[in-house]
Amino acid sequence: MSDTLIQLAYLFAAFLFLTALRALGKPDTARRGIQLAAFGMAVAIAATLFNSRIVSYEWIAIGGVVGAVAGYPLGKWVPMTAMPQRIALSHALGALAATLVGIGEYHNGLSVGELTRGHVLALGFEVLLGGLTVTGSLMAFGKLQDILPGQPITFRGQNAFNLAVLAVGVASLVWLVADPMNVTVAAVMLAVSLIVGVLLVLPIGGADMPVVVSLLNSYAGLAAVATGFAIDNNILIIVGALDGLSGFILSVAMSKAMNRSFANVLFGAFGSAPSADAGGPSPTGGEMVPISAEDAALRMAYAEKVIIVPGYGLAVAQAQHQARELADLIEKRGGDVRFAIHPVAGRMPGHMNVLLAEAGVPYDKLLDMEDINDRFAEADVALVVGANDVVNPAARTNPKSPIYGMPILKVEESKSVIAMKRGRGAGFSGVENDLFVSPKTSMLFGDAKQSLITLGLEVKNA
Ligand code: TAP
Repeated sequence: MSDTLIQLAYLFAAFLFLTALRALGKPDTARRGIQLAAFGMAVAIAATLFNSRIVSYEWIAIGGVVGAVAGYPLGKWVPMTAMPQRIALSHALGALAATLVGIGEYHNGLSVGELTRGHVLALGFEVLLGGLTVTGSLMAFGKLQDILPGQPITFRGQNAFNLAVLAVGVASLVWLVADPMNVTVAAVMLAVSLIVGVLLVLPIGGADMPVVVSLLNSYAGLAAVATGFAIDNNILIIVGALDGLSGFILSVAMSKAMNRSFANVLFGAFGSAPSADAGGPSPTGGEMVPISAEDAALRMAYAEKVIIVPGYGLAVAQAQHQARELADLIEKRGGDVRFAIHPVAGRMPGHMNVLLAEAGVPYDKLLDMEDINDRFAEADVALVVGANDVVNPAARTNPKSPIYGMPILKVEESKSVIAMKRGRGAGFSGVENDLFVSPKTSMLFGDAKQSLITLGLEVKNA
């Protein structure tokens, strides 16, 4: 294949990636988005195989087999609740690939004595960003998988110390550009980049990891751009830029939906992992009023308009199928059921959309916060399934609350609320929630999946 054909194939792949990104923006086209992106990647890989610089296909074939053997189980069997750590692991591997290409290219340049300043600048950038993404992503994986402590680990002068170490990394890059053959400086830069990755993630709480993972995603993208410049590959530059920018936009969007500044997420040491007994008395001193599954079912069965509000607890309990079954039962009886989707419900972007789509909830039943908020006032029952922070009225009414200003679902406006959770545990932010002690609210205690099964049986018998 001539180089022109390869470049045309890359252009086509880039077009597929852009179309895929667009399709990923909506739940009903997201699946097609993933298929388009996979097809684009296949086109890009196939075109690259015709690159005239390839001297042997042996290692490429071995790499392909290892990748497929490792990738298939990761994609097929990792449960949705473990998706954030799976993505962190993928970023670590992607960044490792970029870093190794950088080291390999540097080694090649050294052995033939041909290392220009521009080439070393691109390679250095690639190794610096790639290295910190590898260790940063592994740290994020460890925190999300509970291998490492989820709490932020902080010490005095931490931010200044981290910046100083990062400055050493950047200084070594500058030195290397001035003296490209200096292997010691190259080794120092690599070591520093690996250390920076660990240091950057240490002060960030486990539950904030999704923001970090998507930021590291953008670093991995930038490392890929640098790789593209270093080995003169246009598709890497395009894909890396898309990856870098979309990761950054996503991190900012997540911070915004949590009403936290980006800096607060990265340096604020906020958000230690929630625990089941992190409750305590309510600020208004009200009491939670429990309800039995039979009474809750009666209310649901005779309601005309029901809004189900899923949250992190639904994901933990893996109760998405039971939520859909309950919605189907209520609709069979003539009720109207909608699902209210908060942008940061759960622990990763699109968490609730993905779970409910997997359970077969029709897309037109999934309503984003802006579209559903005006409908709460008409709802007979709002059924909160393991959601907490995203329905906390303090975000609108209490300027002293740490979550004040965060856009929330206006559940408290509905005629009555049934809230499902296991006990008095706080949500991710650790903030008390007055919705649960409101006179409108009844608490259905227990694991969300079990409670939904019982509710379904009772609704059937009602
Ligand atoms: P949370 O505020 O985390 O509350 C989840 C609630 O689910 C807890 O109060 C817990 O209470 C309950 N729960 C846990 N396991 C359960 C189970 N098996 N059955 C029933 N209930 C269970 O969840 P949310 O309302 O979805 O809010 C998400 C939070 O995560 C927000 O603060 C958001 O800012 C943050 N966050 C989100 C993201 C993204 S991108 N989604 C990223 C980073 C941070 P019990 O312990 O009493 O059961």
